[in-house]
Amino acid sequence: MTEKLADIAAAMVAPGKGVLAADESSGTIKKRFDSIGIASTEDTRRDYREMLFSAREGMKNFVSGVILYDETLRQKAMDGTPLVDVIRAAGAIPGIKVDEGAKPLAGPAAAIEKVTEGLDGLRERLGEYYRLGARFAKWRAVITIADGTPTWNCIKANAHALARYAALCQEAGIVPIVEPEVLMDGAHAGHDIDRCYEVTEWTQHTVFRELYEARVALDAIILKPNMIIAGQKCAKQAKPDQVAELTVKCLKATVPAAVPGIAFLSGGQSDEQATQNLSLMNEIGGVPWKLTFSYGRALQAAALKAWGGKTENVAAGQRAFTHRARMNSLAALGEWNVQQEKAA
Ligand code: 13P
Repeated sequence: MTEKLADIAAAMVAPGKGVLAADESSGTIKKRFDSIGIASTEDTRRDYREMLFSAREGMKNFVSGVILYDETLRQKAMDGTPLVDVIRAAGAIPGIKVDEGAKPLAGPAAAIEKVTEGLDGLRERLGEYYRLGARFAKWRAVITIADGTPTWNCIKANAHALARYAALCQEAGIVPIVEPEVLMDGAHAGHDIDRCYEVTEWTQHTVFRELYEARVALDAIILKPNMIIAGQKCAKQAKPDQVAELTVKCLKATVPAAVPGIAFLSGGQSDEQATQNLSLMNEIGGVPWKLTFSYGRALQAAALKAWGGKTENVAAGQRAFTHRARMNSLAALGEWNVQQEKAA
C-alpha cells in the first residue's frame, strides 16, 4: 500500500502542477459568496464549484488534485455527472478535507489558541471517503502568534493530532496533506518575519517528530505549510526575495528529504504575491522536494469575482481561474515573471 500511496503523493506534486483547495466549509464559502452578494445554497455552491472543475484547460494542464468539502464529494453536476467524475475526467485526483475545524484550546490562552478536532470516528469516515473516490485528505491546524502565544501546549496538541490523522489516512489508502498553518492574518498578525520563522520552525520540527513517533511513511505525505512572511498587521513587510529565502531555509531545517512535495497555502497573500514568492523559491532551487501550490483564495478570488453568481459569466470565471492556475504552474517551475502575468 505504501508504494501506491507514494505514487499518489508524487502525482500530486507532478512538475508544473499543484492542488486546488476548494474545501471551504459552509461558513467560509458563505463569507466568500457574501463578498459577491450571492446567497450560499446547495445549488449555488454546486454551480460555483462545477464552473471551476469543468475549466478543462486549466484543470488538465495545471491542477493535480482538488480538495473537496464533504458536501461537494457527494454532489452531482447539472447534467447528473458526479463532481468527482468531472475532476477525474480532467486528470486530477479528488481529495477531501476531513478535520472538523479548529476549536478553542482549553487553558489560559483559550481566547486565542485553537486545536483542530475530528479524530473521533475518523477511521470510519476515511473508509467511506475512499469508497466515494477520495485518494488524499487534508487536516488543517492553526497556530496563532500573539503576546504569549503560541504555547508549547498548543503546538504539541496540534502536531499530535496531525500525526494521528496522517497515520489513519495511510491505513485507509489515502495520502494525508499535513497542514500546520502559522497564521499571517486574523485578529493578531502584528508579528514580523523573524518571529514567523521562529514559530514555523518550532511547529514543523514538532510535527515531524510526531509523524515519526506515529510511524507515518514520509514518502506518502504532502506538507502544506505557510510561507515565512510577516503578519498582515506588521508595519515592516519583507521583500519577496527575503520571503523566498527564509522559507526555503526553514524548510531545509525541518523537513526530511523523504517527503516528496511541499504545497503551500496562500494564507491571505494577494494572488500575485503568492505566485511570485513560489516562483522565487523554485528559482533558488537545490531542495530535495517539489515546491508547489495548494491555494484556496489565491487560485479562486479572481474567478469568484468574474463569475459573480451568473450563468452568463461561467466562461469568464473559467478564464480567470485558468489564468491563475497557469501563473502558479509557471511558479512551480520557477518560470513565472510579471510579463507573463500581464500578457494574459
Ligand atoms: P488559502 O490558500 O486560501 O490559505 O487556503 C488554502 C487552504 O486549504 C487552507 O486550509
